[in-house]
Amino acid sequence: VGSNKTTVTPSQLARHNTQGDIWMAIRGKVYNMTPYLDFHPGGVDELMRAAGKDGTQLFDEIHNWVNAESMLEKCLIGKFDLTDMKYL
Ligand code: HEM
Repeated sequence: VGSNKTTVTPSQLARHNTQGDIWMAIRGKVYNMTPYLDFHPGGVDELMRAAGKDGTQLFDEIHNWVNAESMLEKCLIGKFDLTDMKYL
């Protein structure tokens, strides 16, 4: 975990969907959002809408100008593996 070779499947992602353990996929990358949760200007509940899921669409609808990639650099877990097509 933490290496850029790590990949996360949608079902692995889905296991981290609580406030104490929240992962999220954004633009092809999976982040551990747990340390950021309390700092999100939009609040905890908004972030929880995409807990354990791909939040890209929601993220872009609300604030596509926010540079999540840079903000969440230290929270990066790895690449979001979408080869399992049944989840798309
Ligand atoms: C603001 C929702 C993910 C960073 C907001 C606001 C909402 C929101 C509703 C507006 C708050 C307001 O104006 O009162 C969401 C949802 C997310 C999400 C539903 C899940 C997909 C993220 C992520 C980041 C982020 C991953 C970056 C790490 C920010 C920032 C603002 C903000 C910086 C303030 C933007 C500004 O005022 O220009 N969010 N957010 N959000 N969010 Fe998110």
